[in-house]
Amino acid sequence: MSKQFDMVVIGAGPAGYIAAIRASQLGMSVACIDAWSNNLGEAAPGGTCTNVGCIPSKALLQSSEHFEQASKHFKDHGIDVGNLSLNLSKLISRKETVVKQNNEGILYLFKKNNITFFHGFGSFSGQTEGGWCIKINDSANANIIAKHVVIATGSSAREFPGLPFDEKLVLSNDGALRINHVPKKLGVIGGGVIGLEMGSVWRRLGSSVTVLEAMPNFLMSADSQIAKEAMKIFTKQGLDIQVGVNIDSIKVIDDYITISYKDNKDEHKELTVDKLIVSIGRVPYTDKLNSSLVGLKVDDKGFISVDADCRTNLPNVWAIGDVVRGPMLAHKAEEEGVAVAERIAGQHGHVNFDTIPSVIYTSPEIAWVGKNEQQLKQDGRDFRVGTFPFLANGRARALGDTTGFVKVIADTSTDEVLGVHIIGPMASELISEAVTIMEFRGSSEDIARICHAHPTLSESLKEAALAVDKRSLNF
Ligand code: FAD
Ligand code: NAI
Repeated sequence: MSKQFDMVVIGAGPAGYIAAIRASQLGMSVACIDAWSNNLGEAAPGGTCTNVGCIPSKALLQSSEHFEQASKHFKDHGIDVGNLSLNLSKLISRKETVVKQNNEGILYLFKKNNITFFHGFGSFSGQTEGGWCIKINDSANANIIAKHVVIATGSSAREFPGLPFDEKLVLSNDGALRINHVPKKLGVIGGGVIGLEMGSVWRRLGSSVTVLEAMPNFLMSADSQIAKEAMKIFTKQGLDIQVGVNIDSIKVIDDYITISYKDNKDEHKELTVDKLIVSIGRVPYTDKLNSSLVGLKVDDKGFISVDADCRTNLPNVWAIGDVVRGPMLAHKAEEEGVAVAERIAGQHGHVNFDTIPSVIYTSPEIAWVGKNEQQLKQDGRDFRVGTFPFLANGRARALGDTTGFVKVIADTSTDEVLGVHIIGPMASELISEAVTIMEFRGSSEDIARICHAHPTLSESLKEAALAVDKRSLNF
């Protein structure tokens, strides 16, 4: 006899496990199936984000930043740490502990919310009167029936054509998070988010890092003023970032990788490295769903086709997170999870794509929400800009981290905030205030009139908002 559920979620990444929890809160009987195993073969829910994405990368970014602070900046505070040494295996095992704590946290949440968890791959096996039949290839080879199916199977790293990941020399995000010695020379193909974050980690730990980016300009999705500043700072830190490159060939010979490419002046170059991270984007993962059996529609790039509410072409089958259109971000995935559970329950779940923040966790951090100057110019919109440098912020000076600035863009006639762009300390935390303001369709005057605690980095956002009206107080 197959077990019956109101809803089954396939995938327990941030999209899936959050959808399962919200559905359970709304009174549904819920099952969640996830295939991820840790190196002991145990269930490791949390998806890419928890196992080889957001969480482990931030753990390594934090550890490597401590190392860089101790080796280069503690002395500015009068702290002499003498001969500093790195215990890389401890650093990596700390990251693994952090991951495990998160896996266990999700298993606890499943129990707390009465969600039935299956460890294995879920796939469509047909349809009956009671709903969709889902087969689970776990040890019990269970079958379940669910009225609603939510597909949250995420994404996987895109390979460079003809160069499969071996996770020893040619690394995806997975291998990049568990290199067991600091490579002397590290190459990175793709100067996007993973390239910059993982490139920063290994540079701080001692690698000589070269990033090869195909686009003609650096960080083209960011505001160009922010991207320019970032390029200047990262280059000064020692990252060799080359834009406008065209890769001809990549050869793995013995323990080295040689990349032949044309640089942005069309000159032929060669780069030989000990390890190569390939971070050229991610592709939706639908391999194990047996979706052709039921006629689930995917688009030409392999994403499951959905409408604005995450409905697929099949009745009562939904898809959320990285496996559908939109930014591949954990918080976008979570919002879709909540919204879909609420829609299934007859409520009006909502995701505002205009206020999804983007963050790059380098040092300094980069964060933005809304539109940038290039986009607004293209839209033909009239706007005013206010900027404020962290150099003029008391808390930043006390921290010893005065790099970067805050930029607020507001509509000329209504003063509505259209975008906020930050490069600087704790930009990831500071952006939340801007998201809140934009969610309420607030104005730069609103930010400027809100009392901000002193001394805080957040005063820089207030000052940038004041600068929109040319009345900055501290600059
Ligand atoms: P996933 O997290 O990929 O989860 C999908 C799950 O489904 C996986 O566990 C998979 O095993 C399982 N699955 C797949 N098929 C089946 C099946 N048939 N049956 C059962 N289970 C199945 N985003 C941010 O917002 N902030 C960050 O700081 C950030 N850092 C990142 C760093 C790196 C290195 C990477 C690679 C990504 C990062 N991301 C970050 C992106 C983020 O990880 C993804 O956007 C997010 O994980 C997407 O969530 P998801 O639930 O859609 O998919
Ligand atoms: P990305 O889309 O951020 O960057 C990929 C880069 O590779 C682009 O700049 C692209 O122009 C370049 N590229 C593509 N093909 C190339 C080629 N042949 N040669 C040279 N360069 C090439 O993708 P990335 O960094 O792989 O990350 C994947 C996803 O994971 C992103 O969509 C991102 O949203 C998410 N992520 C989010 C993080 C965060 O929120 N902090 C951190 C890490 C990943």
